[in-house]
Amino acid sequence: MNPAHFFAREWKDYASVTSLASQVHRLLEAKGEHVENDHIALRTLAHPSMGLESMLGFFNDMGYEQGGEYFFADKRLRAIHLEAPNLPLVFVSEFLYEDDKFSNFVRETMEELIAACDGREVLELFEIRRPWRPSFATYEKLAVESEYAAWFYAWGFRTNHFTVSVNELKSINDIAGMNKFLKAHNIQLNTSGGEIKGTEVQGLVQSSTQASTFEVDFIDGKKMIPSCYYEFAKRYEINGALYRGFVPASADKIFESTNRVQR
Ligand code: NI
Repeated sequence: MNPAHFFAREWKDYASVTSLASQVHRLLEAKGEHVENDHIALRTLAHPSMGLESMLGFFNDMGYEQGGEYFFADKRLRAIHLEAPNLPLVFVSEFLYEDDKFSNFVRETMEELIAACDGREVLELFEIRRPWRPSFATYEKLAVESEYAAWFYAWGFRTNHFTVSVNELKSINDIAGMNKFLKAHNIQLNTSGGEIKGTEVQGLVQSSTQASTFEVDFIDGKKMIPSCYYEFAKRYEINGALYRGFVPASADKIFESTNRVQR
């Protein structure tokens, strides 16, 4: 698949359920800025048909190579990032649903989703988005054990967030300045772990909005639930080169932007 086509299609889908993202875009454009995307993030299940290896294969075809590997012990997630010259970074995480930490209910529900995907290739999964019809009761029950699993169950295969590259902005220099701009327009930030995640020394400083909410047509009724959020990243040089990786402690908190209630 052509990367430009892929990213354009993902943006269209993401913006359709994330009113905040289009709002931030308009605000920055009104300031004379041109928004560049630092990275997108995708979520999936740790299963051979759709896990990190399959995702890597899909992105290899678009010219991407694997960068760093990450592990999130509390949330039971494994992740990799992918990079390609002159293209946004891609951060992909997979949910270790077979982990002992989770009940049979979580495991069995995830197995049902895998069965519904019916061995389809990643390319097709991103076209179909969610080859199952979710129930709100199951969504809520999953969220008790894993907000990540609940989000994936409700939304399926779609971009979880896009990220404004603050390095490319002319009038805003850093994440503190970005947050100030957002707050001046009454945009709510994710405060889990503080409004600013990461430090200059780590090479990456980030913030994110709280997720927008959007209506999902569940089997047992239509409900407004968290959809996607917008993220902001400023990268710094480490040993003379702009850092291209991610900082696990920061990402761990940013995942929580899609929680139903921030804890
Ligand atoms: Ni991100």
